[in-house]
Amino acid sequence: GVVVSTLLRDTGLVTVDPGFMNTASCESKITYIDGDEGILRYRGYPIDQLASQSSFLEVAYLLIHGELPSPTELEAFEERVNRHTLVHEDFRTFMGTFPRGAHPMAVMSSAINALSTFYPESLDPFDPETVELATVLILAKTRTITSYVHRTSKGEPLLYPDYSRGYVEDFLRMTFAQPYQQYTPDPVVVEALDKLLILHADHEQNCSTSTVRIVGSSHANIYASVAAGINALSGPLHGGANEAVLSMLAEIQGNGGDATDFMTRVKNKEQGVRLMGFGHRVYKNYDPRAAIVKQSAHAVLEALGAADELLDIAMALEEIALSDDYFISRKLYPNVDFYTGLIYKAMGFAPSMFTPLFALGRMPGWIAQWREMILDPSTKIGRPRQVYTGATERDYVPADQR
Ligand code: ACO
Repeated sequence: GVVVSTLLRDTGLVTVDPGFMNTASCESKITYIDGDEGILRYRGYPIDQLASQSSFLEVAYLLIHGELPSPTELEAFEERVNRHTLVHEDFRTFMGTFPRGAHPMAVMSSAINALSTFYPESLDPFDPETVELATVLILAKTRTITSYVHRTSKGEPLLYPDYSRGYVEDFLRMTFAQPYQQYTPDPVVVEALDKLLILHADHEQNCSTSTVRIVGSSHANIYASVAAGINALSGPLHGGANEAVLSMLAEIQGNGGDATDFMTRVKNKEQGVRLMGFGHRVYKNYDPRAAIVKQSAHAVLEALGAADELLDIAMALEEIALSDDYFISRKLYPNVDFYTGLIYKAMGFAPSMFTPLFALGRMPGWIAQWREMILDPSTKIGRPRQVYTGATERDYVPADQR
């Protein structure tokens, strides 16, 4: 249950709400979630309509600017993002200096943070044109950076963007093509990845988005703010869950594939054993994104002829959970991460790339939330209080008397 206690201190009234279970940190017009009903809307548009009919850059525009673009506006936006996908040569060198085994999320957040040093003309948070430039730069460069983290982790040469292709299609080409190879990604894969990025594009005040807002509330620049969001997303209880799901499924497969045995360990709350990809702070119903991802997982695996025993294990776990009192009574349903890893794996991504893909998708949401925060006259620097429970005043004891 929710424990909220209010304490009267000499400083005034303090509300104690660990994990901010019951605290709204802002007003927002961007994303609406009804966790009990399993509803998610961006700017009023239901997520299933956007996933089936829109495109990632159109959704980015919608989240950031508040309205769907006209065809001319969309074309201009796509063209601008495309034109900025190339990174500075020194940036390419910088990307190549991380150790081969570095986790891509650490590389990604460092790289996004470093962008501010390459584009000092894009840092003024209160100049609308500058903010728009930074927005386009971040969307464009994040795509390039995400493909570079994949390539550097494999020691492969970095490829230049091709401006004639779409955002997702060229991301896949830059990620998977060999140098000088004529490479056109499978349209099924392009469509599925576009859809996944849309599903991840925003999710109101989650851990990483709240981080972006609180960092930005000090008027730190937008690159520093979204880089902090990437770090928050890297944790296994947040964006890192998609990677954790795949290791969990692989572990179950390695132990003979017995889903029931694993579920017993989860229910016994064995140290460190959780059904990853299940449960959500806000959704107490089926995560609407998970329903779309599940359909997509079947479609992609079938189209690529990449049947995966891990998908069968995932479905077996879900089937047990949906009829088991442990999960029913705690309202634990699959979240967006439960099936995404299986799709990314079939597409050819290593598990360590799953969370960077989440970050690529979430970037428009972080940018939209940062922009809303900076323009909101009620924004104050984020500064929670605490209830001090440490020692009362005591005198310093010199080292030889301790
Ligand atoms: N497996 C087993 N039990 C679980 C799980 C799970 N995945 N999630 C929650 N529970 C249980 C808890 O043990 C607790 O049981 P109790 O009441 O007997 O103590 C109860 O359900 C409530 O769980 P909390 O951890 O208090 O819920 P909270 O809202 O703090 O956590 C979270 C939400 C972090 C998502 C949690 O469900 C979890 O750890 N899930 C697995 C990780 C995961 O998939 N994260 C991705 C989240 S979505 C995203 O970031 C895109």
